[in-house]
Amino acid sequence: MEEVYHIPAMLEPTLDGLQIREDGIYVDVTFGGGGHSRGIMERLGPNGRLYSFDQDADALRNAIDDPRWTFVHSNFRYLQNWMDYYGIRQVDGILADLGVSFHHFDSVERGFSFRFAAPLDMRLNQQQPTTAAQLLNTADEESLARVLYLYGELKNSRRLAERICRSRQTRPIETTDQLVSVLLRGGEPPMPMQTGTPIEVQPQQKKDLARAFQALRIELNDEMGALRELLLASRDLLAPGGRIAILTYHSLEDRLVKNFLRAGNIEGEIEKDFYGNVVSPFRLIEKGRTADADEVERNPRSRSAKLRVAARSASGVENH
Ligand SMILES: C[S@@+](CC[C@H](N)C(=O)[O-])C[C@H]1O[C@@H](n2cnc3c(N)ncnc32)[C@H](O)[C@@H]1O
Repeated sequence: MEEVYHIPAMLEPTLDGLQIREDGIYVDVTFGGGGHSRGIMERLGPNGRLYSFDQDADALRNAIDDPRWTFVHSNFRYLQNWMDYYGIRQVDGILADLGVSFHHFDSVERGFSFRFAAPLDMRLNQQQPTTAAQLLNTADEESLARVLYLYGELKNSRRLAERICRSRQTRPIETTDQLVSVLLRGGEPPMPMQTGTPIEVQPQQKKDLARAFQALRIELNDEMGALRELLLASRDLLAPGGRIAILTYHSLEDRLVKNFLRAGNIEGEIEKDFYGNVVSPFRLIEKGRTADADEVERNPRSRSAKLRVAARSASGVENH
């Protein structure tokens, strides 16, 4: 059976939120399986343009054969540099559907999933030198605890970090199965299992394992740093009236996007005018919409998605 690369979350509300202009210039900074990009292409006329970014070369398998479409194999943190390179000063819309695709979890050998044994890789950009195993075996206990707490929202982050640091003294933690064992039981990491072997865990252990793996992935790929740079570049690149649509998948990511779109700055510091109205370069359109029950049933991974949409104000500031 052919692998489903990804199923896009909240496709219609996202496209509607972008209010696509036929002859506009759009950027999808997270191409993945290309579901959202294809939706944008369908709404563009012959003079419209779409630039789609992905830092993972695997996404190119889903390339769109169309002269109006350009693939940019890069981290979206370099959005501004790439637009300069293409001679584009302003765009009409930017879409970011953050995180990883189904393809990443299904590609067992890339080490994103706690369900199968594999080397702990987790790099979204496979040209990056550091892997999750290297991070896990070298980071100090305090940093590991912080990562597990902030990006995984794990309340027992200190205990888990201590387990990792104690375990790796006897043998490095190189594989997903070793990490699962250390997180659940502590002690010496077992010998690695063969790649692809299913890892047995209790149903009630899955949530925390998923969170620990997510935390490690976010730290390794500097996902929060890249998002901050993307937000700043978007503010400067969007044409007046242009739209930005962002799908987030965990609370820290969502808080950053929410505060940025409300305030127009990374710190989320709200500026007010003489009358006490919030002054921001954005007008809020969608404030954290979630997938409806039908969609969650069809695509359970859409459950954690939150959609935020804003319009760049024409005057440079907006009261709300
Ligand atoms: C949730 S998927 C996007 C799915 C896509 N909307 C679709 O319809 O198939 C996220 C994609 O963004 C890519 N990605 C994540 N962070 C990135 C970054 N900082 N720069 C470029 N691509 C990134 C991942 O490799 C992944 O393919």
